[in-house]
Amino acid sequence: MSELLYDRLGGTEGITVIANDVIDNHLANPSIMKRFAASDAIALKNAAATFFITGTGGPDVYKGRDMVATHKGMNISAVEFMAVLDDALAALEKNNVAQREQEEVLFVLYSMRSQVMGG
Ligand code: HEM
Repeated sequence: MSELLYDRLGGTEGITVIANDVIDNHLANPSIMKRFAASDAIALKNAAATFFITGTGGPDVYKGRDMVATHKGMNISAVEFMAVLDDALAALEKNNVAQREQEEVLFVLYSMRSQVMGG
């Protein structure tokens, strides 16, 4: 099996399904749903999927902004940040991603904490 996290998550197809579930979870999560009230859900899903495809070692398809520029001025709280991680974990479990890959994804997301909350 390939070492790339991208491949171990099912490549573009698998990651797209997981990313769509993450966004659906966000839109239903009372801790953060208001943040996305004005967002286009399809565009949000596309951004989440492409960000993760590229970030896990897949093709260079992400065309969005970097994490600091994206979240600058949003004043994101620690509770909100944790809600995003909770939603990601729930999507990984729903899609039967193995524990090792769950841990790797969570670590990658956690490592962006200061970029997301710093601005
Ligand atoms: C590690 C955690 C996070 C990652 C990887 C992440 C990733 C992203 C990405 C890739 C985008 C799209 C950027 C673009 O299209 O240029 C985005 C937008 C956004 N994020 Fe995050 N995010 C994280 C945490 C959060 C948190 C905690 C919040 C607040 C609850 C949040 C709120 C938003 C909002 C409001 C947008 C803009 C949506 C829009 O333009 O319609 N993000 N994020």
